[in-house]
Amino acid sequence: MNVRDSLLKAFADAGSNYISGSALAEQLGVSRNAVWKAVKALENDGYTIESVTARGYRLAENNNHLSEQLISAKVNASVLGKQIIVLDEVDSTNNYAKIVSKDMPNGTVIVADKQTGGKGRMGRSFVSPSGKGLYMSIILHPEFSINTAPLITSAAAVATAEAIEALSKADVKIKWVNDLYINGKKIVGILTEASVDMEMRALDIAVIGIGINVRSVKGIFDEELSKRASSIEDETGEIIDRNALCAEVINSLDSYLSKIENRAYLREYRSRELLTGNIITAKVGSETVTGKALGIDRNANLMIETENGIVRSLSSGEANLCRIKE
Ligand code: BTN
Repeated sequence: MNVRDSLLKAFADAGSNYISGSALAEQLGVSRNAVWKAVKALENDGYTIESVTARGYRLAENNNHLSEQLISAKVNASVLGKQIIVLDEVDSTNNYAKIVSKDMPNGTVIVADKQTGGKGRMGRSFVSPSGKGLYMSIILHPEFSINTAPLITSAAAVATAEAIEALSKADVKIKWVNDLYINGKKIVGILTEASVDMEMRALDIAVIGIGINVRSVKGIFDEELSKRASSIEDETGEIIDRNALCAEVINSLDSYLSKIENRAYLREYRSRELLTGNIITAKVGSETVTGKALGIDRNANLMIETENGIVRSLSSGEANLCRIKE
């Protein structure tokens, strides 16, 4: 690790405490001048560093710069996040993750400050401007069976909702299957892509892509998008550190994935789900299905009672554009 990265790690470990130039020099095994140069290098990269005479340096709390060191310092997961790659810009972290997946260890996380071709479900796009959101993809080399695959996205939804609530006062709801809402506005989208080993009837690689609108998107989302989508800051007034949020998502998801097969997380999912109990419409292929959403079954499918009294179970793969009927 170079001096700049070691310094960043030292700041991350120190949290809100100041560290003196001489303590840093000793800890890093370099001269005070080298510490000073590394501080300047970090400032050039966009980090705000506070310095107070006789106390030393610390990273300003309102930093909005994504970094591997700042994320890693807060990760305490057993499988996920052992390797974290932070990119300034990429077309899509899911695309990047799929390309590198074979060479990367299980649980590798790809994070980007900006996506130029952020992807949503069903071929839609996910607007991903610089400095505003957390766009991350987690590479899994899953050990669980193919039947467990549909549970991954819903477990990720619960894990992400809990991560946001751990760092803010938000009350996060889930709209089946993978959208998170605050105050009736979409804040998070999740896109899981998987490849299957047909011979073994097992999942080969799964990539969980999570996009969270963190900072204010006022003036950035167009009028149409602003009616449906928003950000944590716009809905709660709170500014969350994207590095801390990324680590929280990793920790929470790690815990849920380790016990996904017992399906206990579904209780949490159901308590947050927005469609349940409402009359909804869903597009299933070219058909529009209308009925009462009865709830989520043990495979994370949406059960719906249609107008002629038939109960159908919709899978996330087939159902699209679920809306509460007005
Ligand atoms: C949706 O709302 O339909 C899903 C949106 C998923 C967006 C995330 S952002 C990180 C990852 N990379 C992508 O291109 N998409 C996912």
